[in-house]
Amino acid sequence: MRIYENYSLLEHNTFHLNVKTRWFVEYESEEDLQKLLKDEYFFSQTFWHIGQGSNLLFLDNFNGVIVHSGIKGIEKGKEDEDHVWLKVGASEDWDSFVAYCVDKGWGGIENLSHIPGEVGAGAFQNIGAYGVEASDCITEVHAYSLETGEKKIFSNEDCDYSYRHSFFKEPENRGLYYITHVVCQLSKKPAYKLDYGNIKSYLEGKEINLQTVREAIIAIRTAKLPDPKVLGNAGSFFVNPYICIAHYEGLKKKYPDIPHYPVNGEVVKIPAAWLIDQCGWKGKTLGGAAIHEKQPLVIVNRDNATGNDIALLAEEVCRTVKEKFKIELQPEVIYI
Ligand code: EPU
Repeated sequence: MRIYENYSLLEHNTFHLNVKTRWFVEYESEEDLQKLLKDEYFFSQTFWHIGQGSNLLFLDNFNGVIVHSGIKGIEKGKEDEDHVWLKVGASEDWDSFVAYCVDKGWGGIENLSHIPGEVGAGAFQNIGAYGVEASDCITEVHAYSLETGEKKIFSNEDCDYSYRHSFFKEPENRGLYYITHVVCQLSKKPAYKLDYGNIKSYLEGKEINLQTVREAIIAIRTAKLPDPKVLGNAGSFFVNPYICIAHYEGLKKKYPDIPHYPVNGEVVKIPAAWLIDQCGWKGKTLGGAAIHEKQPLVIVNRDNATGNDIALLAEEVCRTVKEKFKIELQPEVIYI
């Protein structure tokens, strides 16, 4: 177990906010975690578990304990003719895990290439991109309950996955489980998902295999999303909102080109990027924060922004979108 006092979180949040935590605790094994969960001092503090901090916004210094998992490892479990199951430590880097699977010839998550973050957080948030979600391959999530200190194995159904949602994100469960491992089922006979956006045009004239699909996804993401290592950001700041068909039909009369993705007979999903773009936000700044000029879904730390600059800009974006479209945007980023 590693414990630091008055520790800077600069390297632990992709907005590059130089906030401090009173304590930073990293457990490196399940035994460490069991010890932590019996510690009275820990439970007397305010605490929050983080991954790589690629979906977090720290509004201020944190006067409590920031907890991080250091559990690593990729272990091959059962295997049949078509599939292989891998048990992955929660603190493995998501994209390194994708690269590992692609390299082995195991398919299913290649469309999720280049997403910043760790495997545990990926299972917590149900990360998704280019027609694939982490939940498509997750068969089990191993987690410890903070209430009982016991380990619980969640099946895919138990995780209650949907678009950017899981059991772990529900308000009544949030923060109550620490994920140690995620079991993923990969396919030895990959079925490529290439219909989303411009993947096919990137692959034109190329052989289609896991490696070339991964390369196409990386090229597409790099072209439109700022690299958090270079320009602080947390990817999509907002989730794409769902609205009812009647609301959509009304908007379509005024905005005939409004893009939408059908969800079911009752609701459609509207791209938040389009809504924000229509409100003229691209490239606009507030304090040190800015709306990215290529992808308005992304708020960037342009010039020594504070967490509050970013939150204020997000609030203004929500206000104008609500005023123009009567749609309430919800942040995907978690505020701490
Ligand atoms: N659009 C504009 N102006 C722009 C950009 C986009 O009007 O400047 C419109 C276009 O109509 C476009 C639509 O918005 O078709 C959607 O834009 P885009 O494809 O860029 O974003 P998205 O599909 O809504 C989602 C995820 C991304 C993921 C991509 C690819 C959410 C909140 N975001 O974006 O996830 O990479 O699909 O699958 O669901 C992330 O979570 O950090 C992330 C980047």
